[in-house]
Amino acid sequence: MTERALSFGAVAAAYERFRPGYPDELVDEVLTYAGQPVLTALEVGAGTGKATRVFAARGIAVTATDPDPAMLAELRRHVPETVEVLEGRFEELPLTRSHDLVFAAASFHWTRPEGRWERVAAMLRTGGVFASFGGQHKLADPELERLVEEVWFRYVPDDDVLPDHDAPDGRMRWPGTELEASELFRDVQQSAIRRRPVSTDAEYLGQLATVSAYLQLAADVRERMLREIRDLLPTRVEIDSDITLHLARATG
Ligand SMILES: C[S@@+](CC[C@H](N)C(=O)[O-])C[C@H]1O[C@@H](n2cnc3c(N)ncnc32)[C@H](O)[C@@H]1O
Repeated sequence: MTERALSFGAVAAAYERFRPGYPDELVDEVLTYAGQPVLTALEVGAGTGKATRVFAARGIAVTATDPDPAMLAELRRHVPETVEVLEGRFEELPLTRSHDLVFAAASFHWTRPEGRWERVAAMLRTGGVFASFGGQHKLADPELERLVEEVWFRYVPDDDVLPDHDAPDGRMRWPGTELEASELFRDVQQSAIRRRPVSTDAEYLGQLATVSAYLQLAADVRERMLREIRDLLPTRVEIDSDITLHLARATG
């Protein structure tokens, strides 16, 4: 798991180029939920800083953390100098400061389950907010998605990193389920932000080639799989990039 969790750095530039960013609407939702000024934030698994920059743009003093030095090197090119950057896994971050907000974008599922909620709570002031968000990137056309998945799962049999991602719409998903069960958090909320960008087939394939399960495959296998998928695609594809956002407040 660790090897796979740290596979993104090898493709940091492609990650930055092909993965979608996060909308201002998401930050609005987090800040409205907070209901009081958010001055400081700690980000877990910041990667190339796609979420860092939208929170920093609101004047929040963000400390961006990630264990992968290659991702952080890319991040430094895209975030303002006011962002503090710290290399480290969530599990080893110092618990010396409490923040108004702790957030994780498409990264919290990579952290070790044992003690993770105690650590988040220790990073937050009483009433501070935890936000976790991310989403699948599927083709919006269900028949085309089915055909692509058929090829994908022929090469990548075990791709179950994100718990619960197939839960029916509206049902509480992970990590909301764990937050609800924890006495360290209250007011757990789940919401969805709709995103349907249109990409070229090359952009879609570029994004697919940044997925950790793909990065585990041998080079020749990767090439064969991408070729098979490319043959299925029209030149432009609509992507279902809906974001699921979980919010909770530290009881303190
Ligand atoms: C899919 S990327 C998401 C990057 C970025 N947050 C975004 O939304 O674009 C997952 C990130 O989690 C980081 N990561 C992996 N294991 C981690 C851990 N134990 N603690 C914190 N971050 C971790 C990886 O290095 C990678 O940058």
